[in-house]
Amino acid sequence: MSNTTVYLETFGCQMNELDSELVRGQLSTLGYTFTDNPDAAQVVLFNTCSVREHAESKVYSRLGIVSERKLAGENILLGVLGCMAERDGLSLLQRFPQLDIMCGPGELDKLPALIDAARRSEAATAAERTALAGNRTRRSAVLSAVQDDLETLDLSRAFDPIVAGRSAFAAQVRITRGCNKFCTYCVVPNTRGAEVHRPPDHIIDECRKLADAGAIEITLLGQTVNHYRYEHGAAVTIDGREAAQIGPGLAAFRAAIPVGKRVTTFAHLLRRIHDEVPAIARLRFVTSYPRDFGRDILETMRDCPRICRYLHAPAQSGSDRILKLMNRGYTRGEYEAFAAQALDILPDATIAGDFIVGFPTETDEDFEASCDMVRTLPFKNNFIFKYSPRPGTVAIERFKDDISNQVKKFRNNVLLNLQTQTSARVHAAWISRTVDVLVEEVCTLRDAQPTFGSVELRWEQNAGKSTQTGRTTLRGRTAGDLIVSMDTPPGANASDFVGKITPVLLQQSSALLLHGVLTAGLVAPPMRLAKAPI
Ligand code: SAH
Ligand code: SF4
Ligand code: F3S
Repeated sequence: MSNTTVYLETFGCQMNELDSELVRGQLSTLGYTFTDNPDAAQVVLFNTCSVREHAESKVYSRLGIVSERKLAGENILLGVLGCMAERDGLSLLQRFPQLDIMCGPGELDKLPALIDAARRSEAATAAERTALAGNRTRRSAVLSAVQDDLETLDLSRAFDPIVAGRSAFAAQVRITRGCNKFCTYCVVPNTRGAEVHRPPDHIIDECRKLADAGAIEITLLGQTVNHYRYEHGAAVTIDGREAAQIGPGLAAFRAAIPVGKRVTTFAHLLRRIHDEVPAIARLRFVTSYPRDFGRDILETMRDCPRICRYLHAPAQSGSDRILKLMNRGYTRGEYEAFAAQALDILPDATIAGDFIVGFPTETDEDFEASCDMVRTLPFKNNFIFKYSPRPGTVAIERFKDDISNQVKKFRNNVLLNLQTQTSARVHAAWISRTVDVLVEEVCTLRDAQPTFGSVELRWEQNAGKSTQTGRTTLRGRTAGDLIVSMDTPPGANASDFVGKITPVLLQQSSALLLHGVLTAGLVAPPMRLAKAPI
């Protein structure tokens, strides 16, 4: 559909960012063009998130603005994609009858047809414009995995970073879709459906093509990546090719692989990508589940230098009682054992995660257990969320949301402050080490409004320097996902460093970031985390 301009805005997690990239690639190949300006678009799409009420409110206010324009007579096609469309499509339609398209995350392959139908006929029926009901949620999961059209969407992604609208050097690859864990507070198993695992060959092929197109960092995505497990021969297409398959139950991770079965575990998958696609200088993955994170994965990370020693493994709570009510399936002690084993095998590893405060019935004592965990474990950072009751979850049905917003807010602040202290300690421990940094962007610091955030400004002032107006710095990340700012060497062109890996001597730290100096010119990947200077 040439000459049609699309504005696509993404809310929520990295899964959604990848979905938006796939949608963009798919529509670009059909002749649509993309704009960053919603006022210049004929098609406005919001790829939405339902994980907390706040995430939905943001979308509601954005929808309100575009709906007004439609009501004022502008000829715009308005679509809601993603988890909100799936979770509550009907009430969205009731609230915004001006909506033209709704498409859940399990049906994104149908989006071009939906846009087409809506454009062809203003009078298209609601059913024609909506592909959300009965997505492959949980109804006929096995069948859907075999007939997985979404797999086709991933397989046909645009590898050219410009077409895909992603960074040239960093890319994401999905290894599983959906989730089978049913944490009691979480909408994801409902919005994303049953856990489906992609065939390893598809994943590796995608990584290779991304590397050929210039990606040097790849992040593997899944809700619980360590539970990736592909049983060869169990799911095939009608013409005998391997297909995506439903993930096994948790028991599979406790037992040895049965004799005669060929299984690709997460550790196997990591090793295959590492060995078969050497152009990837950094292989990352999110999110790890603190339960059943096998020693085999940690040993593979130890043995494969280009796998980043970074674990985003949300603990959610430090209280065993709350963890049980959340249905997380581990205790605080088991989390701590997982972290200790990770740091034993990978002493350089950084650990990060998420906590929820104010889960129903959370007492001061339960909360104190979370605080204690943040004080005692070396978390590089934690995202801290106030419990938000979500329709359709077990928690909203079973437990009263009995912690007041005031208490949630208070606990959120307390935990954030503790995390700030822990982050500052973790960052400080890296000072005077030389590490490889993938430079991601050029930033300009201004006195009044530092683009880097106030923390860097404070830290600059503490260091006795005044921030010069317009000073340029580089910003990047270590393999352990620590944010590093660097001054551009005198006479060098800052943008030449972007997308490259370069060694940096770390000299200063704050709770949010490290600051260092480039110790050499550009170093071609593959690189590994440098050893600490003696
Ligand atoms: N699959 C990942 C998390 C995906 S959702 C995992 O299990 O770790 C991202 C984060 O949002 C969760 O880790 C949790 O901390 C938070 N979250 C999810 N549902 C929530 C809710 N109802 N209220 C508050 N936070 C929530
Ligand atoms: Fe949600 Fe739990 Fe699945 Fe994570 S593991 S997506 S928190 S149900
Ligand atoms: Fe949100 Fe859906 Fe991701 S609910 S966190 S966009 S899986």
